[in-house]
Amino acid sequence: MNCVLEEILKSGYVKSVDGKLVKLHSNISSEEGKLLQEIIYELKPKVSLEVGLAYGISALFICEALKNTPNSRHIIIDPMQSTHWQGIGLNNLKKVGYEEIIEFHQQPSHLALSQLEAQGIKIDFAFIDGMHTFDHTLIDFFYVDKLLNVGGVVAIDDTSFPSIHKVCRFIVTNRAYSIYRYFNRIDYKPSLGRRALERLAHIYEPMRRILKPEYVQPDFELGFAPRSELIAFKKEAEDTRKWNFYREF
Ligand SMILES: C[S@@+](CC[C@H](N)C(=O)[O-])C[C@H]1O[C@@H](n2cnc3c(N)ncnc32)[C@H](O)[C@@H]1O
Repeated sequence: MNCVLEEILKSGYVKSVDGKLVKLHSNISSEEGKLLQEIIYELKPKVSLEVGLAYGISALFICEALKNTPNSRHIIIDPMQSTHWQGIGLNNLKKVGYEEIIEFHQQPSHLALSQLEAQGIKIDFAFIDGMHTFDHTLIDFFYVDKLLNVGGVVAIDDTSFPSIHKVCRFIVTNRAYSIYRYFNRIDYKPSLGRRALERLAHIYEPMRRILKPEYVQPDFELGFAPRSELIAFKKEAEDTRKWNFYREF
């Protein structure tokens, strides 16, 4: 692990551009960072992309792994880097010498991603950790999918948030994506009541129309553990759905 990242994770503080200590927050954990690195070592992406820089923890993990792939490039999007985050994320990347591989866009992701699509940019890996509402995350995924090559992987953070969990269920039920990896800290066991409802949905068809899709097709059946904190999806094919395709999610 590079010394800047190691020092930040050990101390729990980052340094502002003028050297003041600032408490670290909102970042991915080391376990999640290592999982992102494993994926990058496997995929060897030429171009990767990240939504949500903050103090730069995920970007430090990603760039460290990308350094093993010659001529790789990492595109980062965050509208609040110089304001809310005081430029600390970019400064951390600069301190390790990653500025030569990064391309930074200080814009909301829906604008930056659509511009990248218009430019014909293609990517092999993406990490989405921006605005955590359902609609923003879905739009991030929508545009990332437009950029992502078949065989590429998109990882999403904070997938236990109800808003983001729904997006994950949408991806595996409605799009040509499979689960590539997931990270879960809590070994979640459904309650007896929930298990009974899930069972009922299996054996009694009319119940499927009444119950929430989460009961009819639990997360495990979709390939990931309930309450997973990070899920990586592999793009299996380009989108060939009929114009009015829809599956409950
Ligand atoms: C949870 S933090 C990211 C943490 C970072 N990945 C890390 O591990 O250190 C979420 C980030 O999303 C950014 N963000 C908020 N709204 C956004 C938007 N519309 N587009 C892109 N990024 C956004 C915030 O400025 C913030 O930096």
